[in-house]
Amino acid sequence: MAAAAASTAYAQQPAAAGDAKAAEPYVSMCGGCHSIPGYQSSFPRVYRVPKIAGQSAGYIEAALRGYARGERSHPTMNGVAKTLTDKQIADIAAYYAERGVPAK
Ligand code: HEC
Repeated sequence: MAAAAASTAYAQQPAAAGDAKAAEPYVSMCGGCHSIPGYQSSFPRVYRVPKIAGQSAGYIEAALRGYARGERSHPTMNGVAKTLTDKQIADIAAYYAERGVPAK
């Protein structure tokens, strides 16, 4: 019960201070992998690309910072995240969090 309440509260947290519109120029490089349902990146081995649209902004932001700092490890995402500024990460998080309708 307490756990359910806590996760609901988390889901309802307002998006980070990101500006979804500002993210549009650079999310084009993410969509090549992330906007294709079931897409698999196959270098250096096959990874299933997770769907990020509709994840909470906080989750996306934490994931990208994790890749940028090397706490999360994936060759492509480490490379991508290191090129992003904190502001870009917040903007991208807001952008994807707003795309909450699951792609069918
Ligand atoms: C070449 C393909 C590719 C590109 C380009 C790419 N990603 Fe990814 N991304 C992946 C793969 C594969 C994973 C899963 C990595 C893993 O297993 O840790 C991932 C993981 C993620 C995750 C973590 C998702 C989760 O549920 O754990 C986030 C967030 C993310 N990417 C955001 C982005 C953003 C934002 C961009 C653009 C700035 C981007 N990615 C560009 C392939 C890509």
